[in-house]
Amino acid sequence: MIQPLSLIRTGLGWDVHRIAAGRPLILGGVTVPCEFGLEGHSDADVLAHAITDAILGAAALGDIGMHFPDTDPQWKGCDSLVFLRHAQQLAEARGYRIVNVDSTVILERPKLKEYRQLIRERLAGALSLELDAVSVKFKTAERVGPVGEGRSAEAQAVVTLAR
Ligand code: C5P
Ligand code: MG
Repeated sequence: MIQPLSLIRTGLGWDVHRIAAGRPLILGGVTVPCEFGLEGHSDADVLAHAITDAILGAAALGDIGMHFPDTDPQWKGCDSLVFLRHAQQLAEARGYRIVNVDSTVILERPKLKEYRQLIRERLAGALSLELDAVSVKFKTAERVGPVGEGRSAEAQAVVTLAR
């Protein structure tokens, strides 16, 4: 039987972090070997942050900064998969489960596709989802703008919830 459409919810997430030397590059909980990384109060996992906001958005539960203020010392250096799981738990407490996650990381370099499987596995593990429910895509910014000039990294995510 086809579920009524009102039980399906979609959320959108977006994030950006500055690139900085001497910081780790963590994407979806995976540390990618690189001579630079991302600045941030937490571990600056731009992909985990975008997916967290997409989950919160689908359930209309505000945004990541509302639940995890970057002024709170508790979250300094925090593993962002903690945020991700917390957002999922909040959604589940309202009767929603995650159907699927789709996402894009926009970063000029390094090449990320060899890490796709590992990142998908890490995210699927964190969210207790099947691998085929978690999609991660990569794009350059064609050397244009702050991302293209290697000054920042962005991530976008869409999450579907069902109740
Ligand atoms: O941005 P562009 O369309 O040129 O990217 C082509 C392909 O390169 C992407 O589909 C993706 O598989 C890969 N890519 C990557 N790491 C990046 C950016 C792109 O592996 N940082
Ligand atoms: Mg962030």
